[in-house]
Amino acid sequence: MRQPRRAIVITLVLGLALGAGLLVGTVTAQSGKPLALGPLPPVPVPRDNPMSSEKVELGRMLFFDPRLSGDASTSCASCHDPQKGWGDGGDVSRGYPGTQHWRNSQTVLNAAHYTKLFWAGEVTSLEGQAVAAATGNVAGNGDPMMMEERLRQIPEYVRRFKAVFGTERPLIGDAWKAIATFERTVVSKAENVPFDRHVKGDARALSDDARRGLALFSAKAGCIQCHSGPLLSDESYHSLGVPKSPVFEEDPLRQITLRYQHVSRGVPEPVYRTADRDLGLYYTTKRDEDRGKFRTPTLRELKYTAPYMHNGVFFTLEEVIDFYDQGGGNEPGKSPLLKPLKLTVQEKKDLLVFLLSLSSDQPITVPAPRLPDYAVLK
Ligand code: HEC
Ligand code: HEC
Repeated sequence: MRQPRRAIVITLVLGLALGAGLLVGTVTAQSGKPLALGPLPPVPVPRDNPMSSEKVELGRMLFFDPRLSGDASTSCASCHDPQKGWGDGGDVSRGYPGTQHWRNSQTVLNAAHYTKLFWAGEVTSLEGQAVAAATGNVAGNGDPMMMEERLRQIPEYVRRFKAVFGTERPLIGDAWKAIATFERTVVSKAENVPFDRHVKGDARALSDDARRGLALFSAKAGCIQCHSGPLLSDESYHSLGVPKSPVFEEDPLRQITLRYQHVSRGVPEPVYRTADRDLGLYYTTKRDEDRGKFRTPTLRELKYTAPYMHNGVFFTLEEVIDFYDQGGGNEPGKSPLLKPLKLTVQEKKDLLVFLLSLSSDQPITVPAPRLPDYAVLK
């Protein structure tokens, strides 16, 4: 009895999805063919860090707490401001005081759905990402033992860590777990996203121009070759030949950070001498063909997350579309998937309207929490 009934349910669900013209599935493609677009599945949660509302609340506080940085000046929210699309609003991010960052501050929105984080996919979990951010010397520049001691001198945190993790005193590793848990709640909800409502069968969710834009995205403009699946990312690496950002020539602190990255990531001397930009995936693989390759980002919530690309060189989506229309940049090693598109003015507009339909009707924000005070504890 049970098997057939499940088969009927599955057939029904598949039928409904196909009826809407799309299949809903896991976030990234397993093989060649692009995975169909559709609403995001539930957020993946690691077995050793289950969700709870108390942990989310603790994570929210820690995300906003500047004491999780070297000089207690720079919280996660300093560079991932919910009011600025969970980035910092700049082309290239601000840095820890005394430094400037070298990459665009990515949005935290939907980051929980990636299996690889950062512009070039350098870490594979939100827990691992949080410690990298809080200790990285152009971001939080914090020492883990010092940050842990601070948490232990804040009675409300002592109480909350005990309630959530069962420890007598806060452990810094649990702080990253709580922050990751909070980030797993910072995701798009299908009912607020016009495109997702369309896939779920709301015939009025998309305008005619957005529908034409969807068709272009999936065929003539070829965007779906890389921006596929519910996250609109194949989570693979490609070089688009994005233009250099002028800030590295203008600002010595940015130039220093760029060179520091080359050295600390172990690029060979001849490459250090000549490289004038972010080498992307090359830092991890040291293979020449990986220079300038970056992880395909999601296209969800773009309405709120300008400027765009790893170095924020494009301030508007119109600029991004013009860039793709020209076939991308002129760098050696550019992806063969990019070709001049010859889009008409109307087609560019349609594509833009479709991209905007992937954003929530209202920005996703959370209020900044009241942060608990220090007290001298024995
Ligand atoms: C000084 C600014 C700054 C601070 C502070 C900062 N970040 Fe970031 N964040 C960035 C930048 C810039 C990137 C992209 C870095 C890269 O690709 O190397 C990033 C990337 C990320 C990503 C990856 C998103 C994606 O799509 O892969 C997450 C998640 C994130 N930060 C969370 C945090 C958390 C949590 C904290 C606090 C512990 C934090 N950040 C602190 C600037 C900052
Ligand atoms: C060859 C794979 C590929 C194709 C095809 C492609 N993209 Fe991208 N897209 C990427 C990658 C990789 C990035 C990040 C590049 C970087 O930062 O250097 C990106 C970045 C973007 C961004 C910026 C997102 C952000 O948060 O900064 C937008 C918008 C975008 N693409 C839209 C499109 C559209 C529209 C099309 C079709 C006209 C398209 N893409 C085709 C791979 C691709």
